[in-house]
Amino acid sequence: MTTNLHLTTQRLFMRSVRTTDVQALFDYRSDAETNQYQGWIPQTVDETVDFVQNRVSPIINQPDTWFQLVILEQSTKRVIGDVGIHFMDEESQQVEIGCTLRKDCHGKGYATEALKVIITYLFEELEKHRIVTSIDPQNLASIALVERLGFRKEVHFRESIFLNGQWVDDLVYALLKREWRPTEKSHN
Ligand SMILES: CC(C)(COP(=O)(O)OP(=O)(O)OC[C@H]1O[C@@H](n2cnc3c(N)ncnc32)[C@H](O)[C@@H]1OP(=O)(O)O)[C@@H](O)C(=O)NCCC(=O)NCCS
Repeated sequence: MTTNLHLTTQRLFMRSVRTTDVQALFDYRSDAETNQYQGWIPQTVDETVDFVQNRVSPIINQPDTWFQLVILEQSTKRVIGDVGIHFMDEESQQVEIGCTLRKDCHGKGYATEALKVIITYLFEELEKHRIVTSIDPQNLASIALVERLGFRKEVHFRESIFLNGQWVDDLVYALLKREWRPTEKSHN
């Protein structure tokens, strides 16, 4: 059984990742400079196949799993990014999210547009209580993104993550269902 989720925005649509997305995912996820704050940077296409087939759940809303959506541009139908959703606890009332766009699609408002719809889906359809995201303090684009969406900074952990060979700080941002104001926070 697999979840076939489809979400649409003005310029984008999001759907569950497929094996046929592997090459597109590898192309931008392997960009080590753009993704320097990410924990997973594939070195090979095979690693990306393993990620899609074994490391993400084919079913949404399963405790202790990640579910992976890809973001496609409506005008070109190409995969331009992805959003991972981590269903954290047993009751799955809290989720963690992470978003990655290919470099040539930064600065267009795509991440904000995609996440607005995904966050609304998580709160309204899946009835989640709280969404969190973990960000390196040097990742200014990501901080700007979540603050634009209304997330609050809750914690600054010092050297709490060993990433790409060094200890780095970690910011935790969170958004409660009752704090979500999609229309006020949107660019579009
Ligand atoms: C995090 C990340 C997705 C943010 O991307 P982004 O392009 O900055 O965010 P958006 O797609 O929402 O675009 C917002 C920008 O587009 C601009 N923009 C241009 N046209 C726009 C439009 N039509 N509508 C809205 N915004 C528009 C905004 O002004 C804003 O630019 P600014 O930050 O200079 O003010 C991206 O930097 C990324 O993929 N980084 C690598 C992966 C990563 O580190 N992910 C985070 C860890 S999970």
